[in-house]
Amino acid sequence: MERKDLLDIESLAVEEIHEILNTAAPFKEIFTRSVKRVPSLRGKTVVNVFFEPSTRTRTSFELAAKRLSADVVNISTDRSSLVKGESLVDTFDTLLAMKADLFVMRHSSAGAPHFIAERIPVPVLNAGDGAHSHPTQALLDAFTIREHHGRLEGLEVAIIGDITFSRVARSNIWALTKLGAKVRVSGPATLLPKGLERMGVTICRTVEEAIEGADVVYMLRIQKERQGSHLFPTIREYYQLFGLNAERLKLAKPDAIVMHPGPINRGVEISDDIADGPQSRIHDQVTNGVAVRMAVLFLLATQQKKPSLDEALAATE
Ligand code: CP
Repeated sequence: MERKDLLDIESLAVEEIHEILNTAAPFKEIFTRSVKRVPSLRGKTVVNVFFEPSTRTRTSFELAAKRLSADVVNISTDRSSLVKGESLVDTFDTLLAMKADLFVMRHSSAGAPHFIAERIPVPVLNAGDGAHSHPTQALLDAFTIREHHGRLEGLEVAIIGDITFSRVARSNIWALTKLGAKVRVSGPATLLPKGLERMGVTICRTVEEAIEGADVVYMLRIQKERQGSHLFPTIREYYQLFGLNAERLKLAKPDAIVMHPGPINRGVEISDDIADGPQSRIHDQVTNGVAVRMAVLFLLATQQKKPSLDEALAATE
């Protein structure tokens, strides 16, 4: 992989996606060691700048960087000088002057990480920008599917819920179709964007149609923070029409897995018994997120002088 930044999935070549997934697999094995740390990024400084709330992504990037022995700084934007009126560019220039080696950035505006990446010389990793992209989420999802099914090619993946406002849906559609999976989507008509078919997905009229025979059932979070007006009548009706319960899951293949990017709205997108049930891979997604983020940090931060993966994995600190 030879690129400065990771900003979206659409610009990634299939070979680059495979390289990331193949790099993440041995990094995941480090989690079973008594010392879960390798020295690959010793001396590097990773700065997490999150302008939106996050539990999984921010913690997972922090842990990933620490497991690679990087120094990590987390910027809380509500406590930074941004609140005094400092611009986005001046904020990043200031952090750059302190010799940051790589930025991880989440922002509510689509394109904000691209804007910064064009202006600074060090790698920028998009940790979610508006409704546009969440590339590491799609990569960890692809890793999780491949881990269970052994492949992505030819799998039937149902993505259900709020497609319009979901950067996870958009990134997953790009990643899964590039990797040869067949994607079907279903959700309230008000939450299915126009022109979705052009992304190579099949639109299903009902959630049952989408789940029938699926290898993966991927439930999306209702993005209340991005929806302006009421786009469906009530939460109760949403759950009745689009929520995943045991009866609906029986329509999928017997070895189908259930996924959700989190945070979950229990009883809205998914019932408790399914979220916590044997087919759920929601916790695996979180675990794999650390391994996949180790892989992208390693690949982007060692562009100039990349140690071999064997060298990177050999030593513990
Ligand atoms: N999936 C995801 O992005 O979760 P967080 O908002 O908690 O990071």
